[in-house]
Amino acid sequence: MIYLVFGPPGCGKGTQAAHLAERFHIPAISTGEMFRAECKAGTDLGKIVCAALTKGELVSDEVTNQIVARRLTQPDCRQGFVLDGYPRTVPQARQLESLLRREGLMDPRVIYLDVPDEALVQRLTSRRQCSECGHIYNLHFQPPVRPGICDVDGGTLMVRADDQESVIRQRLRSYHELTGPVLNWYGPGVVHRVDGTRSVHDVTDAVDVEAMDCSTA
Ligand code: AP5
Repeated sequence: MIYLVFGPPGCGKGTQAAHLAERFHIPAISTGEMFRAECKAGTDLGKIVCAALTKGELVSDEVTNQIVARRLTQPDCRQGFVLDGYPRTVPQARQLESLLRREGLMDPRVIYLDVPDEALVQRLTSRRQCSECGHIYNLHFQPPVRPGICDVDGGTLMVRADDQESVIRQRLRSYHELTGPVLNWYGPGVVHRVDGTRSVHDVTDAVDVEAMDCSTA
């Protein structure tokens, strides 16, 4: 199955994409994580994308589509995958549609985590992420057992550079302007809305219901 976990910054895409990937034994592919890895490695691509990430703006469709096409044509994607953070514009959605057709892959199902802006700023300013394995925590809602230390591998927990309030607000503006229209492009038959304001556990249960429904559809 191909799942697109969709929604505004901080709605829980990374949290739920990791869950779906583990449950269905398919890779979770996050364009944000791919871009952050390029920035950290200081590659030519990293130099281009770092500026956009720091300002909370979107990376260009051309660059994003290229990096995604390279990843989705890897052998581990033949049995399905979870996309987190892509597509984020209507041109990206069109590009994904033609890539899936060209590769003979199934149509995606969109799981939309609906969370209002007010809740997102609080979630993002209190997010922490393991510098080693990328596991996501929250100081209020999903704290680690030992402060600052990852429960999974003992790695140090970090604050993401784009989790400052001014950058978060720009990311929300970009979402409403450019990413929201992707939901209309897919339409109600493809989009499965989940109320993302509930606890992580309850959202996971609701995502599972939609995912199972998708996998038997
Ligand atoms: P990306 O990394 O995709 O960032 P984002 O979309 O802003 O989303 P986040 O990763 O911040 O949040 P999330 O929805 O994954 O939530 P999480 O699970 O972490 O992209 C970063 C940047 O890369 C973009 O700004 C852009 O520049 C660029 N980019 C990426 N893709 C692109 C594309 N396709 N095109 C162009 N540019 C692109 O959860 C957030 C926090 O909330 C955590 O602390 C978590 O523990 C907590 N939490 C999760 N669920 C709940 C819950 N139910 N209740 C309470 N807390 C919860």
